[in-house]
Amino acid sequence: MEESGIRIINLAFESSCDDFSCAVLLRDANGIKILSNIIYSQDYIHGIYGGVVPELASRNHIKASLPSLRIALSEAGVTLKDVNLISATAGPGLIGSLLIGFMEAKTLSYALNIPLARVNHIEGHIFSPFMETEESFPFIALVISGGHTHIYLVKSHDSIRLLGRTRDDACGELFDKISNYLGFGYPGGKIIDQLAEKGDKDAFKFPLPMMHSKDLDMSFSGLKTAVVSTIDNLGGPDKITENIACDISASLREAVAEILYKKTAAACSVYGVKAIAVSGGVSANSRIRSIFKHRGKNDNFNIFFPSVSNSTDNAAMIGYAGFFKTPAYPLENMEKFLNIDADPSWEL
Ligand code: KG4
Ligand code: ZN
Repeated sequence: MEESGIRIINLAFESSCDDFSCAVLLRDANGIKILSNIIYSQDYIHGIYGGVVPELASRNHIKASLPSLRIALSEAGVTLKDVNLISATAGPGLIGSLLIGFMEAKTLSYALNIPLARVNHIEGHIFSPFMETEESFPFIALVISGGHTHIYLVKSHDSIRLLGRTRDDACGELFDKISNYLGFGYPGGKIIDQLAEKGDKDAFKFPLPMMHSKDLDMSFSGLKTAVVSTIDNLGGPDKITENIACDISASLREAVAEILYKKTAAACSVYGVKAIAVSGGVSANSRIRSIFKHRGKNDNFNIFFPSVSNSTDNAAMIGYAGFFKTPAYPLENMEKFLNIDADPSWEL
């Protein structure tokens, strides 16, 4: 919905996993501005179980859905009467979770006759670095999260091509599993990152799977097995002191950052691209940020990251991507509109 000179107030929803988020964005002659971005996190609930429990996620989304909407509108200083676009994540994700945010968006769209933009969650991440800085096409997008470790060539909002992906675990999943194994809980990425700050990255030499494969695919399950074996060889999780946990975390974080940087840089050289946009929850990682920034500078790449708070799931990134979609108009073709739905396995 690109209408220059027009003031668009975009109400956005994201509920694909265990965060319920509602945001309000403004697009006018000055560009796009985030007016509010409310995130209701359920980490404290799923932490008890060491991972996301889908049934609990959707039940808690129901509780969060209306208060989040109310707070997002009031923080933005607007009412539903001001809204002229609604954006919502339609997939991929957990179906029970997706449905809460998507159906709230669809219901508001239908009841208030506001166009509805159906947004892919990964597309939200891909463009999230550009919510705060000007877009730079073409770019290589590295999306690293709990479910994704994917490399794309992005030429425009309508031209996104998958170049490579993990063949097994996502890198966020690897951090989460190792943190759980060590007994530090979920979500583990942030915990491993904090422990790593106090550790020695050269203490352990972990393998870098598929580093020399000719394609742009990656693999993290072998790395996970290597870390688990190291812990077991040291006597098991109970025998790991905090200092050793810090060293393991630092060495693991280094290996992941190395794989991600090398594969992304390879994508740039194959496709002759100079800009890299890193996004997804794992892009909050401090070492990944510094490796991409420093090595990227040496290799003459322009590196883009979202702010740390916009790295993990949030509705502002969904709203941002929603501005570039052709929305569905509820009253224009009602039958078609009523049939649009969430799709838990929607691939870009
Ligand atoms: O994008 P996201 O919020 O949700 C998904 O779409 O999956 O990403 C969540 C993932 C989790 O695996 C979490 O452990 C990881 O992002 N994560 C981090 C950090 N903060 C969150 N991983 C590494 N370092 C961090 N600082
Ligand atoms: Zn995500």
